[in-house]
Amino acid sequence: MVRRTNVVLRRIYPIAPRDLEQAGTVSTHVRRELLALGMNPDVVRRASVVCFEGEMNMVLYSQGGRIILLVKEDRVEILFSDHGPGIADIDLASQPGYSTAPDWARELGFGAGLGINNMEKNSDLFKIRSRVGEGTVVRATILVGVPFF
Ligand SMILES: Nc1ncnc2c1ncn2[C@@H]1O[C@H](COP(=O)(O)OP(=O)(O)OP(=O)(O)O)[C@@H](O)[C@H]1O
Ligand SMILES: [Mg+2]
Repeated sequence: MVRRTNVVLRRIYPIAPRDLEQAGTVSTHVRRELLALGMNPDVVRRASVVCFEGEMNMVLYSQGGRIILLVKEDRVEILFSDHGPGIADIDLASQPGYSTAPDWARELGFGAGLGINNMEKNSDLFKIRSRVGEGTVVRATILVGVPFF
């Protein structure tokens, strides 16, 4: 029997490209939502790290897209989907230290090449799919451990 996984909370956040004023606000919202649900602080911390890095990458590298937060009874899922250049070599982009950040982003402290690695380390399940010239979809899942509800 396939167990039905109830969606406890769903939020959709649009992301505008290059909008550094807005960058970081989605992870702040996600953090707030998860804390309001009474989730474990470590799960909340990991989800907000994942969200921040994914959000920054969408702002810096894509032409915009959206982030979907799904809280299910046993997991938090964060989906990032964008239109943009895509990632030609996902393994390479995932390596710590690899970055194509432009100078203006480096001047602001981005471009260490640690974002995807950090997302992966803080997720239990992590998957990137991308098509060059079309865009990128990232799915990060954080398991809550004991069923949440
Ligand atoms: N959504 C995306 N669309 C296109 N390219 C991306 C996207 N996300 C990441 N990349 C590419 O993958 C590289 C590595 O990303 P990662 O987040 O690991 O490091 P960074 O953004 O360069 O630096 P940091 O995250 O440490 O500030 C980026 O430099 C960029 O080339
Ligand atoms: Mg990054």
